[in-house]
Amino acid sequence: MHLTNEQEKILDGEKGEVMERLFRLLFRLGEIYRADSMIPVGSVQVAGVSYKSIGNPGMEFLEDMASKGAIVKVLTYLNPAGMDLENWKKLGFPEDFAKNQLRIMDAFKKMGIVITSTCTPYLAGNLPRFREHIAWSESSAVSFSNSVIGARTNREGGPSALAAAICGVTPNYGLHLWENRQPSVKIKVEVDLKYNSDFGALGWYVGKQVKNKIPYFTGIKDANTDQLKALGAAMAASGAVALYHVKGLTPEADNVKKEGLETISVGKSEIKGTYAKLNTGNTPDIVIFGCPHASLREISTLADKLEGKHLKKPVWICTSRMIKEAAERMGYNEIIAKAGGSIVADTCMVVSPIEKMGYKTTGVNSGKAANYLPGFCKQEVCFANIDDLVEGQL
Ligand code: F3S
Repeated sequence: MHLTNEQEKILDGEKGEVMERLFRLLFRLGEIYRADSMIPVGSVQVAGVSYKSIGNPGMEFLEDMASKGAIVKVLTYLNPAGMDLENWKKLGFPEDFAKNQLRIMDAFKKMGIVITSTCTPYLAGNLPRFREHIAWSESSAVSFSNSVIGARTNREGGPSALAAAICGVTPNYGLHLWENRQPSVKIKVEVDLKYNSDFGALGWYVGKQVKNKIPYFTGIKDANTDQLKALGAAMAASGAVALYHVKGLTPEADNVKKEGLETISVGKSEIKGTYAKLNTGNTPDIVIFGCPHASLREISTLADKLEGKHLKKPVWICTSRMIKEAAERMGYNEIIAKAGGSIVADTCMVVSPIEKMGYKTTGVNSGKAANYLPGFCKQEVCFANIDDLVEGQL
C-alpha cells in the first residue's frame, strides 16, 4: 500500500502512541483487503456506544484513549447509546447502567465526538454528499448513505471507525471503489408496498435470500426516504447488504451494470409469509417505533394517530435528540405524551436493556428490530404496520 511520508512517520511512532496504534489498525486492514492507499474521509459514525454492547472492557478502552489525548480530525457522530441520556430516570433505566453509560459518553466527548447518539446521522446534521468517502459503522446508516445518498463507505467496526475519525483516513477498498458497487442480483418486486413495515418485510426477505450481495430492485414504483431506510435496515440485519440500488429512485441505479443478473421475484405471498415468520408473540407489553431512528415525518404521523387518544400500554418512539427537539417545537411531543406515549432520544429498543425493565413482548413495525429483538433482548415480537400496532395499544 502506498503511504505518504506523513503516514510513514505515524507508523514509526513520531506522532505519538495513540496515533501509531490506531493508524496501524487501519494499515493492517488495508493490507488484508489489498487497499492501494489511504483516502481522506468526510465524516465518521462510530458504533459500539451502548454499555450493554461494550461493557467494562469497551468503556475502559475508550477512557484510556481519551486520557491519552486522542482527538478526532473529522465530524464524528455516535450510534445509539443504551439509554435516553437525559430522561433515563423517568423512563426507568437502571441506575448502575446509567452511571457506566455516562462514563462512556464522557470519554467520547473528550475525544471531540459529537454527543449525538443516532443511527440516522443523515437526519441530524451529518449528511454526506454524493460520492463522498466516509467511514460509518451502523449497518442501516451504512446502507442508507451508500444506497440512497450515494456516499461511499464500508461497514466499519467500532474500533476501525474510531481509528478513521482520529486519523482522518480509511483504507481504499471495498465499497469505496466503483467496480465493487455493481449489483450482483436483480429483485423483481411484484407487489404494491404501502406501509413502512411492508418495506421492512421486503428487506428482511431479500436480505435472507441474497446475504451480502448487492441487489438491484425493479418494480418499486415509489418510496420515500423513511421507506428506503426501513428497506435497507432490514436487509442489513437479515443479510449483510451494505448497498442496494432501486431503479428510478437511488442515485447510482442508472449507471450500474445490470445485464445478465440472476433474478429473484417477490410477490404478495413472500411479504405475507415474512410478516408471519417475524411474528413470534401474541400481544405486546410495549410498542416501540423508530428503528432506524424516527424522522420528523414519522413522529408527525404518530402524533396525528395518537391525538386525543389514551394508550393503555406504553408506546415509545426512538429518535435522535435533534429530531426530538424539532418535534417538541411542533407540539408533537405534547400530543404523544398526553396520549401516554414517550419520545425516547439517544437510544433504541435493541441497544437498551428493555428485558431488564420487565418487557417480554415488543411490538415493532421494523424488520430490523424484529430480527434482533429475540436474540439481543429476549423478546417475543409482534411485527405489524403502524395502524395495527397503535390500535392494539388503545
Ligand atoms: Fe437504529 Fe437500533 Fe434499529 S441502532 S437501526 S434503532 S436496532
